[in-house]
Amino acid sequence: AGAEAVVIFNDGASPAREGLIVGTLVPSVVTIPVVGASFADGVTLAQPGSTGQVRVLPSETRTDYNVIAEKRGTYRDNVVMSGAHLDSVGAGPGINDNGSGSAALLETALQMAKVKPVNTVRYAWWGAEESGLLGSTAYVQGLSQAEKDRIALYLNYDMVGSPNYVLTIYDADTSTFPAPAGVPIPEGSAAIEALYEGFYTSVGQPYDDAQYSGRSDYQAFILAGIPSGGLFTGAEGVKTAAQQAVWGGTAGAQYDPCYHLACDTYANNNNAALDVNSDLIAYAALTYAYSTEPVNG
Ligand code: PHE
Ligand code: ZN
Ligand code: ZN
Ligand code: ZN
Repeated sequence: AGAEAVVIFNDGASPAREGLIVGTLVPSVVTIPVVGASFADGVTLAQPGSTGQVRVLPSETRTDYNVIAEKRGTYRDNVVMSGAHLDSVGAGPGINDNGSGSAALLETALQMAKVKPVNTVRYAWWGAEESGLLGSTAYVQGLSQAEKDRIALYLNYDMVGSPNYVLTIYDADTSTFPAPAGVPIPEGSAAIEALYEGFYTSVGQPYDDAQYSGRSDYQAFILAGIPSGGLFTGAEGVKTAAQQAVWGGTAGAQYDPCYHLACDTYANNNNAALDVNSDLIAYAALTYAYSTEPVNG
């Protein structure tokens, strides 16, 4: 609410450059002298001695939605949940982040029409992830304890086709998230990680760990003690030489050079990564549709 300020630098640069300040601000327009301004990567934003105009826009309230779909199995009280966020940042169309996870999950859900699951399968396409995990947090926090207890596990797919990809699995063993609260990764999450590892091995794909960073929609599920897992092919991080040796691509470049940018279009997608991960998303959903025993005992 009233929380975004666009800063436009009037130093004659063309095109004019602007940045975003996020905080609690009162709508106003203020001209300020520029002492110095640069991005961390050394790009100069504005010349010292010029002025900048700070515009605080009026607050705006919007309604957003989660899309939830469920197919009942024989067991109504053992729910296998998979989710992907459907929203993107305002800067671009969000095809890798997160059309990739959303599309793979949609195809899996459609194919689920062909089977009669033992467990109940539920799919979530989350709203407002980019605004602070709002959709998934509201969903989990809105469940009664009895409803939470019915969810056997949650599988998260956010960025699964990065152009300069690595194949990583959220790591239940060594992740320290969420460190400040000291909340452990729920028991059973390691079995989900093992299922993903087994699939990659069976199709001859190398994999590595990803940390539970608290940056995607699994967070509310972990805080609620629900076993969780997921796949990730990389965002703004930079590929190492060792990773290039394993997966190819470009060392020294971001896993997704168009992360949160206008160029996150259909061209910003690696079909090999999306292909293997789509198969794995379907494999995990189908496996757990029949039994969650390795996860829940
Ligand atoms: N959730 C982040 C986003 O949508 C991406 C991300 C996913 C980052 C998983 C780290 C781990 O921008
Ligand atoms: Zn994002
Ligand atoms: Zn995302
Ligand atoms: Zn591990």
